[in-house]
Amino acid sequence: MEALKNLAVEIAKNAGSLLLNRPKQLDISTKTSDIDVVTQMDRASERFIVEEILKARPDDGIIGEEGADRPSKSGYTWVIDPIDGTVNYLYNMAGWSVSIAVKDLQGTVVGVVYSPTIDSLYTAIRGGGAFLNGSKISCNDPIELNRALIATGFAYRSELREQQIAQFNDLILKIRDYRRNGSAAIDICHVASGQVDGYYEMGLLEWDRAAAELIATEAGATVSVHGELTIAAGPYLYGKLAEVLLGN
Ligand code: IPD
Ligand code: CA
Ligand code: CA
Repeated sequence: MEALKNLAVEIAKNAGSLLLNRPKQLDISTKTSDIDVVTQMDRASERFIVEEILKARPDDGIIGEEGADRPSKSGYTWVIDPIDGTVNYLYNMAGWSVSIAVKDLQGTVVGVVYSPTIDSLYTAIRGGGAFLNGSKISCNDPIELNRALIATGFAYRSELREQQIAQFNDLILKIRDYRRNGSAAIDICHVASGQVDGYYEMGLLEWDRAAAELIATEAGATVSVHGELTIAAGPYLYGKLAEVLLGN
């Protein structure tokens, strides 16, 4: 597992360097809607990550946001988001990340989220704790709802935004404040390291959350997915958030 994590770290760091080398012109095309964009750098990062995985582990499967789709012969599958926070990247705003997870039949075994613009490398191996730049991290717990700093984000699909806005409005009157940082992977890692107390969002996909979910869980947080809704927080606050967001 350690070797698998080291490989994921090396690939994530090199993909981060590739992305820091920003071209003068970004070619922008849209995907599911006019606001869901992809650039040549999302594709270049995914291409690089896939090539590096296959050089080292040709029998592993790969699922990537920009189309990578290879069945696994080894029992291991890599789940990658080549830029999480493409809109930040587009505006040259800090906080976008490269997210790389490896899963087996029991779930995620390795999670790596790397954000070079905020000098943050988050790592976890299943059962081995969570780390930020090599130091062990743990989530904030217990935190009362009325003291909670909550990160969130908004999906590109307007029907999901519409549903989320009701929860957003309800919760703002009950918490300390919100942060919208622009990368779901980093938001969930911020729960792991205590830089926010909790997180929720509608419409995440596997590549957005796979790596960060393991990192947060290994840092002591509770992470759950209910239909379209993902919630992450320390166990006490998680219970309070679930009461408001799920009505139980
Ligand atoms: C998006 C980011 C954003 C979140 C969106 C995601 P992308 O991923 O994680 O923070 O709010 O739901 O789709 O498109 O930049 O990879
Ligand atoms: Ca994403
Ligand atoms: Ca992406």
